[in-house]
Amino acid sequence: MSFNIAIDGPAGAGKSTIAKQLAKELSFIYVDTGAMYRSMALYFMRNDIAKEDEAAISDACKTVEVSIAYENGEQQVLLNGENVSKEIRKEEVGKMASATSVYKEVRKKLVELQQKLAADKDVIMDGRDIGTCVLPNAQVKIYLTASVETRAERRYQELLEKGAACDLEVIKKDIADRDYQDMHREISPLKQAEDAILVDSSDMGIEEVVETIKNIYREKC
Ligand code: DC
Repeated sequence: MSFNIAIDGPAGAGKSTIAKQLAKELSFIYVDTGAMYRSMALYFMRNDIAKEDEAAISDACKTVEVSIAYENGEQQVLLNGENVSKEIRKEEVGKMASATSVYKEVRKKLVELQQKLAADKDVIMDGRDIGTCVLPNAQVKIYLTASVETRAERRYQELLEKGAACDLEVIKKDIADRDYQDMHREISPLKQAEDAILVDSSDMGIEEVVETIKNIYREKC
């Protein structure tokens, strides 16, 4: 039987950094589900499909192909065969992903893909609805969060290091807006699963969070 670790939480809580490191240390496969919603969003943007146009979005879901491959252990996401892993990281793609992940057809398509990926492999999967909807039987469920201020500050430092122009207050507002949208949608909103363990990383470093989750995993084993 495969072992599944679900990590959910709001944008900027450090889920992917933590999940990637954990996957390496535990020899699990890391699945970043946000990348799949971002790829669909990129398709809608490239094809001038408005985020309000549910009919066109549902229609596109029937033909668009999203798949996952691994290169040197790193997840790559393919949109109709094209590797879009870099392009989907743009801020506007993230916003579009949040706006279009509200639709039933988008979620149905991607949840099916995610469940298939986890069916016979040991995976660490991160997202918003993994513990509540995608992998309800995951042996370990973590709800990883941090205050809006901490998440905004981390993002601000990241952008400064890249030499990008940024404004802390704008970042804070974007994060709060995204939290609101992801937590208040009708289908599978972001929330802590009843059996998930809350990890608040506001005052924790990466290593400390990884160790905390590793200890939870060892207890479950
Ligand atoms: O984790 P991320 O920033 O890459 O996710 C982008 C958006 O995709 C997020 O704001 C909401 C959506 N998403 C989702 O609805 N369900 C998931 N399991 C993962 C992401």
